[in-house]
Amino acid sequence: MSRPAVCLVSGAAGFIGSRLAVKLCESGHAVIGVDSFSDFYPRWIKERNLAGLRTRPGFEFIEADLNDLDLTALVGRVEVVFHLAAQAGVRTSWGRSFSVYLRDNIQATQGLLEAAKGAPGLRRFVYASSSSVYGMSPDLPASEDSPCHPLSPYGVSKLSAEQLCFLYHMNYGVPTTALRFFTVYGPGQRPDMAFHKFFRLLAEDKPVPIFGDGRQTRDFTFVDDIVAANLACLERGRPGEVYNIGGGHRETLRDLLPLFEEITGVTPRLEPLERQKGDVPHTFADIRKARADLGYVPRTALRDGLVGEWEWIRDLYSLS
Ligand SMILES: NC(=O)c1ccc[n+]([C@@H]2O[C@H](COP(=O)([O-])OP(=O)(O)OC[C@H]3O[C@@H](n4cnc5c(N)ncnc54)[C@H](O)[C@@H]3O)[C@@H](O)[C@H]2O)c1
Repeated sequence: MSRPAVCLVSGAAGFIGSRLAVKLCESGHAVIGVDSFSDFYPRWIKERNLAGLRTRPGFEFIEADLNDLDLTALVGRVEVVFHLAAQAGVRTSWGRSFSVYLRDNIQATQGLLEAAKGAPGLRRFVYASSSSVYGMSPDLPASEDSPCHPLSPYGVSKLSAEQLCFLYHMNYGVPTTALRFFTVYGPGQRPDMAFHKFFRLLAEDKPVPIFGDGRQTRDFTFVDDIVAANLACLERGRPGEVYNIGGGHRETLRDLLPLFEEITGVTPRLEPLERQKGDVPHTFADIRKARADLGYVPRTALRDGLVGEWEWIRDLYSLS
């Protein structure tokens, strides 16, 4: 789809959705952004994510909950859906708050898919899935064929919505493609995520919490690489397929501490905490399928990406 398309970006005020919306606009596409400003983290951060977008020609913003909108009318206006709206967060997905995950991750996705099945102009429906669907997968790196055994209610909600995408593809021909993002970082990262917290705590010279032995590994992926994978889906994502989108390497948080020290100039003081329920020990993506089908190649070195995030954090919190 090299010609400009009209795209819906759900979760457009969020970390990844706002960055994707900017890139789509820069690439000449028209974007309808939807976001409910859920209270998972402060509205002012999301307003900053949107700041450059709100006045941009070709960008329209709708502040609404997907569960309350006339989705048939909305999806009927677009050729592409990038569905990123969700309740994120693994540790907060236990207990009563699971109802939020049911509503925002599963119910909202089902509503969009129902609308998509009757939308004749729809060419792509790209769903933001997650490495958390693998859970305790025995395979490292995990390929798209590896078993999915989520360890958290959040992971269950993301996998359920991913499977709904597949069902609507199989039964109604909705052109769904799921991208499983692996721990995303960079400018705009959510305040509940580890790097954001680390940088902020270091700037305030406070101890940095390390869960368990700190030897858990994560495949960290720079946000612009995630955005590039989404854009590649416009042209090359195969409907009905799932793709891992990772950074191509995995690191332990403990081993990254010297890099944090070098970037911030502050020596981390560690605060050991118990391992959290739902946290998986390791994530690592086999990205060969995304490379072959989407031409996906992660391009940002971890150091460069972290420097970009640190600069953004300093600006966000007006740190000197
Ligand atoms: N950040 C990561 O490392 C990561 C990893 C894997 C998958 N993902 C997925 O990527 C997507 C974006 O994640 P993010 O980190 O940018 O999160 P985010 O919280 O910054 O963005 C999500 C946005 O969705 C909005 N939202 C939630 N429920 C909504 C609803 N019912 N209607 C309208 N808007 C709603 C929120 O207000 C928020 O602004 C999510 O689907 C998430 O599950 C993220």
